[in-house]
Order: sequence, then structure tokens, then C-alpha cells
Amino acid sequence: MQTRRFVLAHRPRGVPRETDFRLETVDIPAPQDGQILVANVYASVDPGIRARLGEEATYAAPLQIGETVEGATVGRVVASHNPKFGEGDWVAAAFGWSEHGLSDGRGVRKIADLRVPPSAHIGVLGIPGLTAYFGMLDIAKPKEGETVVVSSAAGAVGSAAGQIATRSGARVVGIAGGTDKCNWLHDIGFAAVIDRRAEPDLGVAVARACPQGVDVVFDNVGNSFLDAMLPLMRIGGRIVVSGQVADYNTPAGERPGLCNTSHFITSRLTMRGFVAFDYFREFPKAWADITQWILDGKLKYRADIDEGFEKLPSAFIGLFNGDNFGRKLVRIGLQI
Ligand SMILES: NC(=O)c1ccc[n+]([C@@H]2O[C@H](COP(=O)([O-])OP(=O)(O)OC[C@H]3O[C@@H](n4cnc5c(N)ncnc54)[C@H](OP(=O)(O)O)[C@@H]3O)[C@@H](O)[C@H]2O)c1
Repeated sequence: MQTRRFVLAHRPRGVPRETDFRLETVDIPAPQDGQILVANVYASVDPGIRARLGEEATYAAPLQIGETVEGATVGRVVASHNPKFGEGDWVAAAFGWSEHGLSDGRGVRKIADLRVPPSAHIGVLGIPGLTAYFGMLDIAKPKEGETVVVSSAAGAVGSAAGQIATRSGARVVGIAGGTDKCNWLHDIGFAAVIDRRAEPDLGVAVARACPQGVDVVFDNVGNSFLDAMLPLMRIGGRIVVSGQVADYNTPAGERPGLCNTSHFITSRLTMRGFVAFDYFREFPKAWADITQWILDGKLKYRADIDEGFEKLPSAFIGLFNGDNFGRKLVRIGLQI
């Protein structure tokens, strides 16, 4: 049997190009004792993958040339020699940009509860939603009456992070690119929204939207933005470094730094970065909470789905231009 996959062909310089990825058709062996074969139905594209395409080691090793590009997947078991899985089961995994996945079951999660669509299990119930959940509830800990600013607020992580802060009674201000995204954020309960494409100076725009100052910044974007936020922070403010989408395409050594660091002293600020996997053991509670909030209509999410396996590179590249409106997925075309 054969399957298609995208591998890294070249290490990108700057914004990735489609030619940095190569489509290959390879043989896939029949599953052996203990293994399952999964036909992937959706694969994700994630800004953080960009960090693995360079030579620099991050919390994960760089992807090697010729290796399958990383991505979360949702699919169905098409053959099982593992008693924990049956044919037809929906599973969430990380088989990458590949039509199929072969596994002994480790790292594969059976989706037993289908009240929320399978694709959401790599979105609001996947790493993006878990990043929002733990970053907000364990690190930022917003309180009633506090002001929270979320960057890339209409994205998979940001939209969940903002709504979780709103649940805590905070006043949440979101930053997003374009009128449609901003209107949606108003609709899902953000107190104020700033269109980054319409504002020449985000520091000025956030100061205007937050006249009492800012208690929490949940940042998905990077250092230029963070530096503009530091003078606006109130005493005891918390900065959660979730991601740096604006900086991923800039080589190490050329990325913007932080200048306004005196505010860490005067305003007694705390800044903490994290990786959602740090909270691995607590995922089941987060899944239960997020599922309930979705079913109660208290947590809204969007999926932005391209059709066709060959769309994976363009969908990924579009993330760095704000083309996606919600969790970006590609339907691989093997719906069964
Ligand atoms: N720490 C963790 O464990 C963890 C896990 C998952 C993701 N993350 C991080 O969380 C962040 C969001 O990820 P996501 O999957 O939810 O992606 P996303 O926010 O859905 O998509 C990326 C968005 O970033 C914004 N953007 C792109 N280039 C930008 C620029 N130069 N300046 C400002 N904004 C820009 C665009 O939104 P607008 O058009 O609205 O500006 C774009 O739509 C990323 O930085 C990612 O690496 C962290």
C-alpha cells in the first residue's frame, strides 16, 4: 500500500515557500502485531512548526531534510492489530503531513466522545485549546475586574485564551487583523478589539483601550508587541509568552529584543513562557472542562479548513500573513 506525505526539502529563509516542501509517495507497511493503521482525515498547520524547520534547536530537535513535516492529525483506524483500537475508531495523533499513520498506539488518543466534531480534537480540544487553558488558568490567573490583553486573538490559541479570561471575570481586549476577525471577537464576548492592520501604533491603541492599564498580556506574537506593552502594565502584572509568530521567520540574532525592561522593576512584573505539553498529566481535566464549556455554548471556536492534501504548504505559509480565520486545518480527502 502507498501513501503520500510532505517532507522538508529545504530549510526556509524568511517566510517559507512551497518549494521548501516536497510531496512524496512512499510504501506503507501492513500493520504488525500491536500496531494500527490510521487514515488521516484532517491535518493541522501550526505556526510553531516554523521553529523546527530551521537549524536552531528549540524544545524539540530541528526537523531533518527528508523528514515528514510535523502536524496534528485526526483520522480513522482502517486496520487494527491492537486490542485498544477497533476499525473505524476516530483517533487524534501527530502523524504529520501524511495521508496515513502507522503506530503501536503510543501518542494516539481514541476519541470516544463525539459530541464535539472530530476536527475540534486537534483544535480547541487539541494543543491550541490546551495552551490557552493552562497559559491562562495556571500562569496568568486573571481575576475579576482585571484587564487582559490577548494578541492574535482571533486565532486558535488566542480566541480560547480570551474567552477563558472572560470566564474569570476579567475585561478582555483582543488584537486581530481585519474587520471580520474583530467583529467575531466582539460577538464571542471580547470587551474591546483592536484591528492591528488599522492601527499605526499598537502601544497607543492598547493604551486607549485600557485606560486603567493592563494586568495580563497573553502574547502569541513576539517581542516588538511585548515591548510596547511593558510601559502599560500595572503593578503585579503577568506576561504569558505563548508564541512569537511575528518573529519565527527572522533568524536568531536578528529578532527584536525588549528595551522597556525597567518596567519589570517598577511594576513588579512577571514574565513566563511555557509549552502546553508541560501540563500533559492534567490534560484529562482540561478536556473535560473545555468539552463542557463548548456544549454549554460558553466557548466558541472556528475551524478554517482547506480541501485537499496538496494544500498543506500553502495553508501553512498563509499563517504568517493572517490568511487563516480560526484553527487552520486541511482535509486530506480520505473521509471514510
Ligand atoms: N506554547 C505552546 O505550547 C504553544 C502551543 C501552540 C501554539 N503556540 C503559539 O500560539 C500562537 C498562536 O498559534 P495558533 O495556532 O493559534 O495560530 P493562529 O493565531 O490561529 O494563526 C496565526 C495568526 O498570527 C497572526 N500573525 C501572523 N503574522 C503576524 C505578525 N507578523 N504580527 C502579528 N500577528 C501576526 C495572524 O492573525 P491576525 O491576522 O489576526 O493578526 C495569523 O492569523 C503561535 O505563536 C504559536 O506558536 C504555543
